[in-house]
Amino acid sequence: MKRKIDVFDYAEHITRALRQGVLLNTNGDKFNSMVIGWGHLGVVWGLPTFVVYVREHRYTKAQLDKTEEFTVSVPLGDPDPLITRVCGSLSGKDVDKASEARLTLVPAEKLQTPAVKEYPLTLECRVLYSQRQELARIPEDIRKTAYPQDVDGSNPLANCDAHTAYIGQIVDAYIIGDD
Ligand SMILES: Cc1cc2nc3c(=O)[nH]c(=O)nc-3n(C[C@H](O)[C@H](O)[C@H](O)COP(=O)(O)O)c2cc1C
Repeated sequence: MKRKIDVFDYAEHITRALRQGVLLNTNGDKFNSMVIGWGHLGVVWGLPTFVVYVREHRYTKAQLDKTEEFTVSVPLGDPDPLITRVCGSLSGKDVDKASEARLTLVPAEKLQTPAVKEYPLTLECRVLYSQRQELARIPEDIRKTAYPQDVDGSNPLANCDAHTAYIGQIVDAYIIGDD
């Protein structure tokens, strides 16, 4: 069962959860889930939105570009270490993360991208706009730490790749219950 929510009632919870990682789910060639620590809830063009930042060589990026939709799954308690390890350091190019991380997929209400029962607070988002960062415009100290050019694009954390920001319109928001 899903309980509909006003997502702005959960703004503080979502923002705090990002510090430990929430899930960005996509469903292009297959379902895939990656941990994200960057993101923000807000309003763009008068619409409720969630913005995510995805580096160039993530499997997630190709999926997002193909389907232009995603779900965000936020834990209500502490994050599960298995989910963090599998979804935050392995790539969907190599593994089936749903089975490796033992995720229970739940059909979405308005999208083709499922939600994840273990992280029940769910946002369903349709991409309205995307834009790749220009590294030259990022302050030098941040650029050196977050985008070291002597590290290739496969490093799961800091690496040479720019992020693309995806502004997703939140088209549904709910908490998945046990029944
Ligand atoms: C706590 C945490 C936060 C992360 N935040 C982001 C993020 O905001 N954007 C990003 O591109 N990668 C982020 N990552 C790295 C991806 O989760 C990781 O590279 C993942 O393996 C990519 O999966 P994929 O190749 O299946 O898309 C984060 C990882 C962790 C552990």
